[in-house]
Amino acid sequence: TNAGTSTAPAAAPANKKITLGFAQVGAESGWRTANTKSIQDSAKAAGFELKFSDAQQKQENQIKAIRTYIQQKVDVIAFSPVVESGWDTVLKEAKDANIPVILTDRAVDSKDTSLYRTFIGSDFVEEGRKAGKWLVDKYKDSKDTVNIVELQGTTGSAPANDRKAGFEEVIKSSPNLKVIASQTGDFTRAKGKEVMQAFLKAHKNINVLYAHNDDMALGAIQAIEEAGLKPGKDITIISVDGVKDGFVAASEGKINFIVECNPLLGEQLMQAVNDVLAGKEIPKRIVTKEGVFTSEDAKRELPNRQY
Ligand code: AHR
Repeated sequence: TNAGTSTAPAAAPANKKITLGFAQVGAESGWRTANTKSIQDSAKAAGFELKFSDAQQKQENQIKAIRTYIQQKVDVIAFSPVVESGWDTVLKEAKDANIPVILTDRAVDSKDTSLYRTFIGSDFVEEGRKAGKWLVDKYKDSKDTVNIVELQGTTGSAPANDRKAGFEEVIKSSPNLKVIASQTGDFTRAKGKEVMQAFLKAHKNINVLYAHNDDMALGAIQAIEEAGLKPGKDITIISVDGVKDGFVAASEGKINFIVECNPLLGEQLMQAVNDVLAGKEIPKRIVTKEGVFTSEDAKRELPNRQY
């Protein structure tokens, strides 16, 4: 598919600074903080004027911010959609105003893909699969029931939907791996702790925690320790992201396996902005490269971790 080149954006005059409006999800996690910094630093390095807003994890705030950017006639709008659904109207407004839209980090479920030029970010289903594969492998020689609790990300968000789906797809081949409870912790430490406390009260035999991000795992670790249990030993912990605090916990053996999700999307975004404004065709999907880390890997990698 071509990247919606039917309506070429008006080229900015040579001496005019390119204005980018970026509607961020919020500041819910260490990952998000690193992502925001990457976008701000890269916009500065590219010489763009960045208009930045923080939606505090609310879709209505993001829609408001996008409408403001349309009124201000920015050159390009980029955003990381809090949830997947409900974007068609505002994206149509941007298209009618001839302002190109770039999605970063999270996807939308709009059927009309001409509403955005590209989507730059991770493959969240694959992240869920990586988490599942590690677990299947860990228990491959055991017939015992393994009780798993899951801390989901923000309800309706692409990473929560996809990390759940990818994980389930892989573990269903091992009938002894059982998800006994699954609830949202909204990608925050506070909620991760609160929900883990409830899980611990309701279930006596939790063997594994699968947290959709490091922050929720870190909150859950506090709950586990306060319950007198050893995270990483009494309860095996898998999380996603690979932020510094997650790496510290992994290097201490409290998180057993981390699936990386790279927040440093700024440079790729600024490149895409330049390409779109230059009228170049860009791929409709730009996938970020990522790895996985055991506690041993985390120990080795920790000094090199940038965020
Ligand atoms: O969309 C990416 C996810 O959002 C990260 O995994 C999580 O930490 C963040 O809040």
